[in-house]
Amino acid sequence: MTTEKRRILTGITTSGTPHLGNYVGAIRPAIAASRDAGNESFYFLADYHALIKCDDAERIQRSTLEIAASWLACGLDPDKVFFYRQSDIPEIPELTWLLTCVTAKGLLNRAHAYKAAVDQNTSSGEDPDAGINAGLYMYPVLMAADILIFGANEVPVGRDQIQHIEMARDIAQRFNHMYGLGLLPDSLLTLPEAKVDENVATLPGTDGRKMSKSYDNTIPLWLPEKQLKKAIYNIVTDSSGPNEPKDPESSSLFAIFQAFANPEESSKMRRWFAEGVSWHFAKEACFQLLNRELEGPRDAYQAFIKNPSRIEDLLQAGASKARERSRPFMAKMRRAVGLRSLNTHPVQTSAGIKWSTNEVIQKTSTSFSPQLKSYREADGKFYFKLISGDGAVLLQSRAFDSPKDAGRLTAALIEAGGASSTVSELLLQSVPPGETPVTSTIVAALAQLKADKLAKERDKKV
Ligand code: TRP
Repeated sequence: MTTEKRRILTGITTSGTPHLGNYVGAIRPAIAASRDAGNESFYFLADYHALIKCDDAERIQRSTLEIAASWLACGLDPDKVFFYRQSDIPEIPELTWLLTCVTAKGLLNRAHAYKAAVDQNTSSGEDPDAGINAGLYMYPVLMAADILIFGANEVPVGRDQIQHIEMARDIAQRFNHMYGLGLLPDSLLTLPEAKVDENVATLPGTDGRKMSKSYDNTIPLWLPEKQLKKAIYNIVTDSSGPNEPKDPESSSLFAIFQAFANPEESSKMRRWFAEGVSWHFAKEACFQLLNRELEGPRDAYQAFIKNPSRIEDLLQAGASKARERSRPFMAKMRRAVGLRSLNTHPVQTSAGIKWSTNEVIQKTSTSFSPQLKSYREADGKFYFKLISGDGAVLLQSRAFDSPKDAGRLTAALIEAGGASSTVSELLLQSVPPGETPVTSTIVAALAQLKADKLAKERDKKV
């Protein structure tokens, strides 16, 4: 049996220079996760997102280079992961629109970032939407498209991003529901989960607040040695003198040290704090520790920065590889919503759903088997539906008073498998009186269901 890999996806907005917080909170854990053979990793440069808060074109380009170089210098292997630039994947903005059309405006009104901007305007007596671009408002939908286009299962993020992942789930659920896929356990859109690593999510900055560009308290990741030392020496500490015990829990210096230390080094520093280490000594130890980890990658980073065309080539290769996923996926999405060639009509074949004479969507691990789903409606009655691997509803049953009657029929339908005369008879009992189902596609789907069932039983025995 092959188990599908867990898809892990994360993006970094290309509006700034990478700092220690990005490294500890995103780059380092992501690269570690990408080495796990059970994962399939997607890392991308969120340059469309950058446009929302930055209108400095040179800066966007420079930041894209710096962030890409950072990931590569830290050991990301572009052959093992999907590493690409958001704006090289045209399917992302295309999906954004489809999602926009199923997203409740009210949902976006509640987004923290938008709400904070409105609150700020209101409290300063401005028009609530003054200075707010629609990009900020749509931010969560674009982010949902980033995530959903590759069917990510897991999105490692900081706390501030949890709401965005929840919105992506909401939007995906709504899409699945609206296009008849809501009853499938594994619908067209995979529901992502946020993953917050408690240890690394909040590296403090030089002033003790979360390290963030918006607080201007960052330490750039690739400072040359001397400047790194200076930046660490500038971390704000309390006024306790040498020989006075210090509290590691309230110290940003300690938190930064700990993010780079192994357990023994951490407990040693903890002991030193208790014994009243001088801040000067602690800062020197912190600098040595950080520099130990960063000096190798720093050289690699400089080499990448000097060779942008090498990075561009890697990004182009990454985009082609990613688009091998996003292109067929988007084709399915277009079909699901009805953006289809007029020559197109769905026919179930053994190769998968055939949508037109010359275009067969190959069955892959990402296309689904047909499903026969039983459920109860608000009217208290029982129903079932047959859904094709591509999400089309092939059969909608009539209402049954008892689940047993519905169950008897669904069992018989699967059992009949591809035998069309038996299926036709059962179908007449299944659908509302007077309706004639399209038997040929249903027969093929049932044949596949039966084959799946037999295969599953065989697997169980083995
Ligand atoms: N919003 C994220 C941030 O500011 C960046 C981002 C964009 C992202 N798209 C994403 C992160 C998709 C995870 C998944 O940090």
